[in-house]
Amino acid sequence: MDRVIVFDTTLRDGEQAPGFSMNTMEKLEMARQLARLQVDVIEAGFPISSDEDFEATRAVARQVGTLDNAPSICGLSRVGLADIDRCWEAVKYARKPRIHAFVATSDIHLKYKLRKSRAEVLRASVDAVRHARAYCEDVEFSPEDASRSDFDYMCDVLSATIEAGARTINIPDTVGYAIPREWGERIARIREKVQGLDRVVLSVHCHNDLGQAVANSLTAIMQGARQVECTINGIGERAGNASLEEIVMALRTRKDFFGIDTRVRTEEIFKASRLLSHITGVHVQPNKAVVGENAFAHEAGIHQDGVLREKLTYEIMRPEDIGRPSNKLVLGKHSGRAALASRLKELGFSLAGSDLDRAFKAFKDLADRKKEVYDEDLMAIVTDEATQSEALYELDYLHVISGTGVVPSATVRLKKEGQTFQDSGVGDGPVDAVLAAIDAITGLKGRLQDYSLRSATSGKDAIGEVAMKIDFDGTVVSGKGASTDVIEASARAYLSALNRIARSSSQRMKEVGP
Ligand code: KIV
Ligand code: ZN
Repeated sequence: MDRVIVFDTTLRDGEQAPGFSMNTMEKLEMARQLARLQVDVIEAGFPISSDEDFEATRAVARQVGTLDNAPSICGLSRVGLADIDRCWEAVKYARKPRIHAFVATSDIHLKYKLRKSRAEVLRASVDAVRHARAYCEDVEFSPEDASRSDFDYMCDVLSATIEAGARTINIPDTVGYAIPREWGERIARIREKVQGLDRVVLSVHCHNDLGQAVANSLTAIMQGARQVECTINGIGERAGNASLEEIVMALRTRKDFFGIDTRVRTEEIFKASRLLSHITGVHVQPNKAVVGENAFAHEAGIHQDGVLREKLTYEIMRPEDIGRPSNKLVLGKHSGRAALASRLKELGFSLAGSDLDRAFKAFKDLADRKKEVYDEDLMAIVTDEATQSEALYELDYLHVISGTGVVPSATVRLKKEGQTFQDSGVGDGPVDAVLAAIDAITGLKGRLQDYSLRSATSGKDAIGEVAMKIDFDGTVVSGKGASTDVIEASARAYLSALNRIARSSSQRMKEVGP
């Protein structure tokens, strides 16, 4: 059967959206799950964009790109030669490295963003692809803002980059402007007009600004595209990218219509979706297709009645097709380290050594406080530990006084590089008081922009997961924390955001210092 290459850009386009940033450790956990999902290509980052992105891309190439049956590991690069060099330095460790070079081809971008002529952009594209091909065979080229680019000029750039050695030509609807029929026609015309296109893989990369990303991707497949760029849960710039799970399940469920499949192991979809939510602290909307909480819930009596008689009445996919578990009890107080490690591995976390020690301690603490420990609890504590693991400041002690008719106050003790620091604060509520105490210790002042609290599972003893967005002097960072005590979870979330800022400023101090 004909097959579509699934190119996942959760760790690049997805990660660059506000509130979705991931550190290296988090990207690695996610990349391992993407490998289990059997995507064909993981775009792991944009190496020239920051040292952190470079490190994360390199870590994914080294640790995930070298596994048996590893997906290709791709890095994004502008068409500058130095960018390509940096990209190669990060991806070269993978068994199957890919360099993805892009440059805008629309007149709007040329005039206002690049301030370059069409001829200059064409030349830079060809030079970049040739330069990348000197490093590796697998080179992809994208004309950014393709849906608003002059068609003939864009086709000239594509023909020239194929001639220069590009193996994949990716057509991005960067601003989510395209409408399915029009987009399908554009893809068909590109196939006709671009020279050498029959020798390369044609790909699409659709954004969701008008809610058409998945429809546009599927239409492009019908017109001969054989790679789709997409993300888990549809995360990405602005309204996001095309959602991987929706494209894959549409192709699978409607094989009769498309006659095309992917290599994706769909039973890993649900885990990938939940892992991403835990890592980023951003939860999917309940009615999200395929992975939303309600995607398989039949509420109306008449529907329930039908499903009880015969599932086919209202179910076009089965929960087990995407690996959606019944929320079963997984581990208890007496479970050992090996059982925890093995369950965590199944959930996408390969922990060993001190990381496993810390997770095991957190698990034991949790099992003492909470009778029943579910997969969602384990994911909450492990992602919480992972966020705190590279911490500059760690929470050591917390005492809060709050209630009706009392001024809420908090005393907090933090550990930093082996030393402890204590201070107190008052606020409008207990969370505000805790944050004030932390600010007093660290000397950093964060402004809370967004706060959400959700329970990982049901029950009064459930773990509370807090996600925050904090503005530190104009830089907005997200943080998350988990605990059965929601005030402690809030303190941990604030600290995880603050640690991102504190780490990068201490790094800058080292770089600037003697
Ligand atoms: O949306 C876009 O145009 C991109 C390119 C870098 C492919 O993300
Ligand atoms: Zn994009």
